Amino acid sequence: MTNKKSQVSRRQFLNYTLTGVGGFMGAAMVAPMVGFAIDPLLKGEKKTEFVYVMDVDEITNEPQRKTFPVDQVDGWYESKVDRSAWIFRTEEDKILALSPVCTHLGCVVDWNSKAEFENEFYCPCHGGRYTKKGVNIQGTPPTEPLHVYEQKIEDGKLLLGKAVARKEA
Ligand code: FES
Repeated sequence: MTNKKSQVSRRQFLNYTLTGVGGFMGAAMVAPMVGFAIDPLLKGEKKTEFVYVMDVDEITNEPQRKTFPVDQVDGWYESKVDRSAWIFRTEEDKILALSPVCTHLGCVVDWNSKAEFENEFYCPCHGGRYTKKGVNIQGTPPTEPLHVYEQKIEDGKLLLGKAVARKEA
């Protein structure tokens, strides 16, 4: 004799089956979406990419503005953008690559563009001024020095990475 209570009814069987299949299909549809949504988080921080900018023997004591393309990743969106740097040799014979982005509100600084501010970087937006080494001049709007590019020299070529804020001038 069979115990009727322990048997699964046709209705229950259908319920279990449909719930299982439905759950599986739902998970199969949602998993790629969740993966896509959190993908940038899973990738983690990308290592700094260094890009060729100019040959070391072309670098002079006079700042030269050089533009170079870099890969930019913004969440899911990857693109090529142009960066630029003011590059020169300091009096101590060190290579300095300064970001031209004014640390006040982000305009672009120019070198030696004003007769009254000789040998300085000048920002035309609000009159920000920086010394040749990119240090902000007191009494002008910027409150920190121009950022400096991380650099590498390989086979006589200057490669630049990220522009970073300076702790000291
Ligand atoms: S943005 Fe350069 S001084 Fe304001």
